[in-house]
Amino acid sequence: DKRHFRHFMLKEIHEQPETAELWVARHLPPDLSSDDPVALPFDHSFYADLERIQILACGTSRHAALVGAYLLEQFAGIPTSVFYASEFRYAPPPLAPHTLTIGVTQSGETADTLAALAMDAQRRQAHGEPAFAPRQLGVTNRPESSLTRQVPYILDIGAGIEVGVAATKTFLGQLLAFYGLALAFAARRSHRSVTEIANLKDELRALPHQLHSLVELHDQRCEVLANRFADTQDVIFLGRGINYPIALEGALKLKEISYIHAEGYPAGEMKHGPIALLDARVPVVSIAMPGVVFEKVLSNAQEAKARDAKLIGVAPECPDTALFDALLPVPEVSEWISPLLTLVPIQLLSYHIAAHRGLDVDQPRNLAKSVTVE
Ligand code: M6R
Repeated sequence: DKRHFRHFMLKEIHEQPETAELWVARHLPPDLSSDDPVALPFDHSFYADLERIQILACGTSRHAALVGAYLLEQFAGIPTSVFYASEFRYAPPPLAPHTLTIGVTQSGETADTLAALAMDAQRRQAHGEPAFAPRQLGVTNRPESSLTRQVPYILDIGAGIEVGVAATKTFLGQLLAFYGLALAFAARRSHRSVTEIANLKDELRALPHQLHSLVELHDQRCEVLANRFADTQDVIFLGRGINYPIALEGALKLKEISYIHAEGYPAGEMKHGPIALLDARVPVVSIAMPGVVFEKVLSNAQEAKARDAKLIGVAPECPDTALFDALLPVPEVSEWISPLLTLVPIQLLSYHIAAHRGLDVDQPRNLAKSVTVE
């Protein structure tokens, strides 16, 4: 039931504060023991002797994996690679011992992801040494799916059924799963101080409330903005660092539900080719959050403006962000947490553009909720 919402997608975007609230209640309960940074359902063998992580996924799940890899490397200090499952299954990297393979799939039924995981398990078993034992984790919203029968460890994102073909609240749930893993690994490997871990946990606990205000604010702002951009033919999304995958996700959301051509780029790559596309007809959505690359993203936005592109900023309201033609404001938070907030305006902008064009937002043409064929 869509309740009073026009589409399931909009309802599911509005359910995100609740998704975050449930995640906090489950993984950061008030009675968490002081040596445990986060409550996860894993035993010691899951964490022991881990040297690297590889993540296999498709579509939006792969974008969550890219944020996850950033956290696992930069916050927890574990070398991590992300693969398109469809590529990995025919060209896996050489086997390396003490590797955890993570398959991320909302539905738990995506053929490429399941096949890539099966192939990885077989190769490890064939190798025969304990260091090559198939240590595999599935991150899913459907713990009753085929994925669960295939891998020894499961992390249920618990986002509830998602009806819209475009993933929204399950993307948030997947991201949160990676925040949990990054906290657990950072603490066990003493890669982060007690204070750094406590700060991230405090910000995660504040997330449900922040998401609530953001969804309300941007539902209105994006509806107004969508009227201006609904007839556009191409949109470029730019981000860097931990928000680069959010730029990819913004472009994917817009493509799949509005049929507008969109590309996501790491902002620093623009000058290596794509900048040739820019003119007054191409809006650029720039995700510019305070942190190591803030100034860089702003100067990349400035370069786009110099080519007459209309700039939409997903950024805090401050003098530095006055260059944007339109601002979708996001509060200043630590860089670690920022993708959990920047995802809201990019989802709502795509939603309102597609709704304004009168399209079937929940059932876009040529797409299915889960892709069970190769
Ligand atoms: O069920 P999965 O997470 O494995 O699905 C992967 C992709 O097919 C999926 O994320 C797709 O890209 C969505 N329609 C994105 O909104």
